[in-house]
Amino acid sequence: MANETGKTRGESLTVMTELVIPNDTNMLGNLLGGRLLYLIDIVGAMTATRHAESIVATVQMNTVEFKRPIKLGCIVELTSYVVWTGNTSIEVAVEIYGEDPITKTREFISKVFMVFVALDAEGRKHKTIPYLPETEREIQDYEEAANRRRQTI
Ligand SMILES: CC(C)(COP(=O)(O)OP(=O)(O)OC[C@H]1O[C@@H](n2cnc3c(N)ncnc32)[C@H](O)[C@@H]1OP(=O)(O)O)[C@@H](O)C(=O)NCCC(=O)NCCS
Repeated sequence: MANETGKTRGESLTVMTELVIPNDTNMLGNLLGGRLLYLIDIVGAMTATRHAESIVATVQMNTVEFKRPIKLGCIVELTSYVVWTGNTSIEVAVEIYGEDPITKTREFISKVFMVFVALDAEGRKHKTIPYLPETEREIQDYEEAANRRRQTI
C-alpha cells in the first residue's frame, strides 16, 4: 500500500523463473525471441500493476538485444522493478539471465526498459502512485530514465 508520498522499488520488485521446454525453442534448441518477449511483457506488467495498484497497458518497449542464446533445459530468470514514474506512466526495467541448472552457469542475456500507463476499469489513463528511489543506484536509474523520457517526447 502506498504511503502519503509514494512507493519504493522493493514494493513491486518481481522475480519470475521459467524452464525452457521444447515448445519454446527453435531448430537449434534455443529459446525463441518471441517467447522471451512474452515473458518480459508479463513480468514487467506484474511490477507495474503492483506499483500502480491498478490495470496497466504496455505503451513502449525499448530495443531488445539477445546477447546469448538460452538453451533447451535451461532456466530463464527475469527480474523487474520500477525505475521512474511520470503522471500516468510507469517505467520498468527487466533484467534477464539464463541459468544452466546442471553446470550451474549463469549468463546475462539482456536488460529491457518498458513503459506502462495506469488505466481505470473503463480503460482511461489516470494519475499513478509516485515512485520513490532510495539508494544511490536507484537515484541514478531514475535520472537515466528521466533522460530517456526527455529524448522520447
Ligand atoms: C495507453 C494509452 C491509453 C495511452 O493513451 P494516450 O492518449 O496515447 O496517452 P498519452 O499520449 O497522454 O501518454 C500517456 C503517458 O504515456 C507516455 N508515453 C506515451 N507514449 C510513450 C512512448 N512511446 N514512450 C514513452 N512514454 C510514452 C506519455 O509520456 C504519458 O506519460 P505521463 O502521463 O507520465 O506524462 C493508449 O496509448 C493505448 O490504449 N495504447 C494501447 C495499449 C495496449 O493495448 N498495449 C498492449 C500492446 S498492443
